[in-house]
Amino acid sequence: MLKLLFAPMATLSHEALRRTIEHYSPNACDEYYTEMIQATTFIGGGKFEQFYVRSGPCPEKIVWQLTCGKAEPMAEAAKIIGALGGIGIDINMGCCAPEIVKQGAGISWMLKDKSETEQMIRMVKKAINKNMRLSVKMRLGDENYNMKDLCNFVDMLIFEGTTQIVLHPRTRKSKFRYQPHWQNAEYLFEYVEKKYNNSVECCINGDIVDFQSLCNVRKAVIKSKGFMIGRAAVQKPWIFGVIAQKLKEEKDSDFVHSQKKAENIDSLELVCEFLDNLTECQPEEFWISRAKRFFAYFCKNFEFGHYLETQINNAKDLNKMKKVFESYFEKMPNERFLYRC
Ligand SMILES: Cc1cc2nc3c(=O)[nH]c(=O)nc-3n(C[C@H](O)[C@H](O)[C@H](O)COP(=O)(O)O)c2cc1C
Repeated sequence: MLKLLFAPMATLSHEALRRTIEHYSPNACDEYYTEMIQATTFIGGGKFEQFYVRSGPCPEKIVWQLTCGKAEPMAEAAKIIGALGGIGIDINMGCCAPEIVKQGAGISWMLKDKSETEQMIRMVKKAINKNMRLSVKMRLGDENYNMKDLCNFVDMLIFEGTTQIVLHPRTRKSKFRYQPHWQNAEYLFEYVEKKYNNSVECCINGDIVDFQSLCNVRKAVIKSKGFMIGRAAVQKPWIFGVIAQKLKEEKDSDFVHSQKKAENIDSLELVCEFLDNLTECQPEEFWISRAKRFFAYFCKNFEFGHYLETQINNAKDLNKMKKVFESYFEKMPNERFLYRC
C-alpha cells in the first residue's frame, strides 16, 4: 500500500495542525514529519523547545526532523529526541532558505564535502536507538547537479544507515518555480530499488494538491513508495482522507458502495477547532504568528481569500480572527461549506 506523508513545514507542522488533519482525515496520514527542530537551540534548552517536541495526536506516526550545520549537535539532539519515540529521525537536506544555508544546514549538506555529510549521518545513526528509522529529505541539489553524483550521494546515505529518502525533485534555486523533475526522481528511485530491493523506501514530494495530481505524479514516478504533501494539506486538512479513500476504492471496487457519501466541511467549525488546538498546543507567544501562517493557505479555499487574509493579518487576537470568519460567512453563506476534494 502506498504511504501518505505530511511534510515538514516550519511554523506549520506542529501538533495543533496535526490534530486538525487527524480530525478531518482520520487514520489517513501514515507519517507526520515535524517542522524542523534546530538541534543547537534544542540542546540549549530554549523556552519554546518543549513545544517543538510535542508528538500528538499520533505519537507513533511522528518523524522528527532535525536541522543544524554541525554534526555533533545533530547527533546529540537525535539521541534525546529519538528517545521520545515515533517512527524515526529525519535530516533536513532540502531547505534552501538563505539563513539555513548560511549555517551549513539544509541543502548545504548536499553541497559540502561529502565526507563531512557522511560523518554527520554516521554520528546521528549511532546516536539513535536501533528501532528508530533514519531518513533524509532532500532536493536534487544545486543547479549543476548530475544524476551520477546524486546516486553516489544516496549510496553514501544508505551505506551510513538511511532507510528512507524523500525527494522534492527541484534544485536549490528553483524553490517552488518550474515543474519538478519527475523523470530524474524516477531514475533515482529505480536505481535505489534495483540496488537495495525493499530495504530502502523512496517517497516523492512536490505539488500534490488533490487525487488527480497524485495520480499524475504516481504515473511519472512509479517507483515511489509514498507521497508527501505539504502546502495542500494546510489549505485542505481533509486531503489525506480524500486520497486514502480513493486509493482504497481503486483497490477494491466494492468499497465505494459500502461508504456513506462524505459530508461537506463546515469551515467555520474547522477554523474554531484549529484556533482552540493552537491555544492548547503552542505557547501564547506563537498564537498569532502560527494562526496567520495557517490562514495564508486556508484562505485560498475562498473566493475572496485575499480580502479574508488581509482581515486576518489585521486582527489583534485569535478571537478577532474568529470574528473575521463569522462576518465573512454572514455575507457569503454559500462559502462556509466546502466540498471535500
Ligand atoms: C512554509 C513552509 C515551510 C517549510 N519548512 C520546511 C522544513 O522545515 N523542512 C523541510 O524539509 N522542508 C520544508 N518545507 C518544504 C516542504 O516540506 C515541501 O518539500 C514543499 O512545500 C513541497 O511540497 P508541497 O508542494 O506539497 O508543498 C517548507 C515549505 C513551506 C511552504
